[in-house]
Amino acid sequence: MSGSNETWLSTRGTALAGELRVPGDKSISHRAVMFAALADGTSSVSGFLEGEDTRATVRAFATMGVRIEQPSASERIVHGVGLHGLSPPATLIDCGNAGTGMRLLTGILAGQRFDSRLTGDESLSRRPMRRVIEPLARMGAQIDAQEGGLPPLQVHGGRILSGVDYALPIASAQVKSAVLLAGLYARGETVVREPHPTRDYTERMLAAFGWPIAFSAGQARLSGGHQMCATNVVVPADFSSAAFFLVAASLVPGSDLLLREVGINPRRTGLLAALRLMGADITLESPRELGGEAVADLRVRHARLQGIAVPEALVPDMIDEFPILFVAAAAAAGTTRVTGVAELRVKESDRIAVMARGLRRLGIAIEETPDGAIIEGGRLGAGTVDSAGDHRCAMSFAVAGLVADGEIQIGDCANVATSFPGFVELANSCGFRLS
Ligand code: S3P
Repeated sequence: MSGSNETWLSTRGTALAGELRVPGDKSISHRAVMFAALADGTSSVSGFLEGEDTRATVRAFATMGVRIEQPSASERIVHGVGLHGLSPPATLIDCGNAGTGMRLLTGILAGQRFDSRLTGDESLSRRPMRRVIEPLARMGAQIDAQEGGLPPLQVHGGRILSGVDYALPIASAQVKSAVLLAGLYARGETVVREPHPTRDYTERMLAAFGWPIAFSAGQARLSGGHQMCATNVVVPADFSSAAFFLVAASLVPGSDLLLREVGINPRRTGLLAALRLMGADITLESPRELGGEAVADLRVRHARLQGIAVPEALVPDMIDEFPILFVAAAAAAGTTRVTGVAELRVKESDRIAVMARGLRRLGIAIEETPDGAIIEGGRLGAGTVDSAGDHRCAMSFAVAGLVADGEIQIGDCANVATSFPGFVELANSCGFRLS
């Protein structure tokens, strides 16, 4: 869908009020379908994200012979085929826009008896895959990429994999997960060590599906040769989708908004800490467990935000939230410094460049650095910006429109459907004015 010319107009709306539930967590939805497909027995997934990314993962397993039913929107029944039950895909597997889909699938496919090919859209075709190919090759996998380690990938089957003790050079839950998933098929033990702890959904969900795994912050260890047993997965609302509303309600005077059933796994909620440092008024109501994950209702009221130096220790816990943090910083008083986020340059877009270019067009002084940015809070003006087909940049600019002095026109927004179908309608239901 990247390159499509869906354009949005965002202008000042009303104070944000009411209650809403954003769609299901993307990371958990991908994994739920993958693990349920490889389990013995029938699993159900409720609260599944009906986004293009996660639906591409459903299609991938369907082409490998897994029967997946959709009894209602955001529900899937997955008839697992067992660890060794996948069939050779009839076609090329298209992961769409999804880095998580492609990287985790590569780990799974490396352990199969058959060959497979993985492709993606324009954005995914520019994203680095050497980071997964390299550790998987150490385990004995053979994966061919295009020049520069880019997709499409050809994963050769019939390889004998051995466990590995792998220290990740960068903090990446996707790479960690790819190695652990190949480890299910490997002889012996696979250990993954992270420079900073990242989201632990793979570890937690493998345990929920009955695979023996030992893990703690920054380390995970498992052995091949077990099996997964079907279970029922309940997916919480995605913190990364809630993030746009946390910032929106913080910025618009008079706002008081409740976001229901949001996942608050600490490896995801770095933005909450950053916004609180900036002076945000966000409280966690009714913290509880939902399907083994911590959730809460997040109540956010307007507050005046101050610029901060974002602590680098928070970066892995808010890696997907920098586009919206940049908007919060642009509307805050004073300077915000962001460092240690070079990874943002290889996300769905170069998020430092795309946000800097856009905010500059809206009159904000922002200096790009190789691994971050320095943002001077100020008045956001009217203007035309390009989201570069990046869902999170598009939604972030939509939030900027709520406090801008005029209309913001945002180009290339169709990919919002990858992670947040229905964003425009939901946003307009609580006070945005977005068309
Ligand atoms: C994800 C991990 C992160 C994140 C992405 C989802 C996951 O990517 O940015 O949106 O589900 O494991 P990296 O592993 O590249 O940091």
